[in-house]
Amino acid sequence: MRTITTVAAMQRLAGTWRRQGKRIGFVPTMGYLHAGHISLVQRARKCVGLEGVIGVSIYVNPTQFGPKEDLSRYPRDLARDTRLCREAGADFLFVPTDAMMYPGKAEGAYSTYVVEETLSQVMEGAARPTHFRGVTTVVAKLFNIVQPEVAVFGAKDFQQAAIIQRMVKDLNFPVRVVVAPTRREPDGLAMSSRNKYLNPAQRAQAVALSQASRQAREIVRAARSPVPAAGLKSRLQEFIQQKPEARVDYIEFFDPATLQAAAQVKPGMQMALAVFVGATRLIDNVRL
Ligand code: PAJ
Repeated sequence: MRTITTVAAMQRLAGTWRRQGKRIGFVPTMGYLHAGHISLVQRARKCVGLEGVIGVSIYVNPTQFGPKEDLSRYPRDLARDTRLCREAGADFLFVPTDAMMYPGKAEGAYSTYVVEETLSQVMEGAARPTHFRGVTTVVAKLFNIVQPEVAVFGAKDFQQAAIIQRMVKDLNFPVRVVVAPTRREPDGLAMSSRNKYLNPAQRAQAVALSQASRQAREIVRAARSPVPAAGLKSRLQEFIQQKPEARVDYIEFFDPATLQAAAQVKPGMQMALAVFVGATRLIDNVRL
């Protein structure tokens, strides 16, 4: 496995692979990898085959963090990430610096962003106003640098995956976006690099997100007619907030294609939620 740290070297290498007819599979991440990330690497391998080339980017992208968010304390462990990627069969690791990705930003000499204007307005976008602008910008940049044929994203970040798919379609990126299922801990908690912030008591309470999701699915599937969203929301909110350190940020029910909120909830719709457990903000989602 090769670790590449400059944009020029990565673009050169990607160009060489493409001229050789090699298919490139790509998994963008912010590092501190867990089994969820690794499942995406394995999916990328399945997509391009043994003849193809697969790689992972590790970059904690500052433009997707709000001013009061956890950018500086976001967990990092490049040595461990490198080992995990090698074990997972990755061919390359792209690890750029801020100076590489946003040259001249501090001096005002970086001024181009990619903005998705509709799907980004709700849920995570409403709670974190500049977040998706940062995500679409960095992913567009990474696509131009790595030039993948296939890029794999996790359903854990359902809205992010939807926005990336929209960006790829709207801007004609020659990239196939694959969305892979959420990997969970044995008790149901969705794997996340941010789970590291939880102390043992908070970790135990964090199971409320997946439990609430499961309850919602059971209620909606058992009902013989659509379930009013407002009532279901307050019922789930009450359930989650029985945990002393849990505070619901949002619970939404929506059409998975448009992300439009639904007043009446039916099987096949999506539910997403964000919950603070202590100071840590966790998200999860489920198909109902
Ligand atoms: P990060 O949070 O590191 O996640 C990288 C990829 O792993 C995303 O596609 C995410 O949805 C996926 N992922 C995270 N947890 C998962 C789980 N439990 N099961 C399956 N997949 C999971 O998402 C980002 O980084 C960034 O926004 C990025 C796209 C890299 C742009 O900076």
